[in-house]
Amino acid sequence: MYSIDLSGKKGIVFGVANDRSIAWGIAEILASAGARLALTYQNERLKERVDRLAGTLDGALTIPCDATDDGQIEEAFKQVADTFGDISFLVHSIAYANREDLSGRYSDTGREGFRIALEVSAYSLLPLVRHAAALMPNGGSVVAMTFQASQRVFPGYNVMGTAKAALEHGVRQLAAEFGGDNIRVNAISAGPLETLAARGIHGFRDMRRVHADTAPLKRNISVDEVAKTALFLCSDMASGITGSIIPVDAGYHIMAV
Ligand SMILES: NC(=O)c1ccc[n+]([C@@H]2O[C@H](COP(=O)([O-])OP(=O)(O)OC[C@H]3O[C@@H](n4cnc5c(N)ncnc54)[C@H](O)[C@@H]3O)[C@@H](O)[C@H]2O)c1
Repeated sequence: MYSIDLSGKKGIVFGVANDRSIAWGIAEILASAGARLALTYQNERLKERVDRLAGTLDGALTIPCDATDDGQIEEAFKQVADTFGDISFLVHSIAYANREDLSGRYSDTGREGFRIALEVSAYSLLPLVRHAAALMPNGGSVVAMTFQASQRVFPGYNVMGTAKAALEHGVRQLAAEFGGDNIRVNAISAGPLETLAARGIHGFRDMRRVHADTAPLKRNISVDEVAKTALFLCSDMASGITGSIIPVDAGYHIMAV
């Protein structure tokens, strides 16, 4: 239990696939701070697992939402509006690229693979923030998840690096657009974590090892460390922070080698 109190606050978390998902780590910590949550799941295949996880949180809703489907996005926010009325935070923790586009030569990325990666991992933030903002009459906080491959070349990350660059730019655009409504938009740039999404990246194990050897803290980070930062960003403690990309990477980003 941490001393940030989110009692009476409500919010929506996108991206729980299983108990290793970063979104689940964030959901658990937000709930333990007293917030009431809606968790979305991508498709029916994930429903049972997400329902089971949500069942361990007080009063959590689960709602289907494929972020490539405008109708499902609209319906998800309608359900949240009907049940919660207003919300004060949104967590975007979703990304996808075809497996063949996460290894090999970047220049071989096909048109369709490029489109899919950018649509799911970057474009999706726009409609989610647009809908969430309509439910944030008193302001709010949006937290997205990114990775340093937006700035540097990580072997295997390929088109997902392009998607993260677009996502981070979107964070700045949206922060500027919604700042007047007291809605803050930030992203956490996490070090490599062993999740379902990470398993698709060629050479991921090596990436973790190099990260731990190189980072000033001489280790990898944990999902809990990302979740604690998300809790901070969703709380009033971060009231002056928007449009920022906050590294939670044991300091890896400052190193030249
Ligand atoms: N794991 C890492 O090393 C790492 C590091 C930095 C950033 N991230 C980012 O964190 C976020 C969460 O990833 P994770 O590592 O927890 O893996 P994860 O596989 O647990 O989560 C990815 C989520 O994206 C969802 N998703 C994919 N396509 C979707 C769609 N069309 N509609 C709705 N949801 C969809 C999946 O259902 C899943 O819940 C991603 O943005 C990822 O890029 C991960």
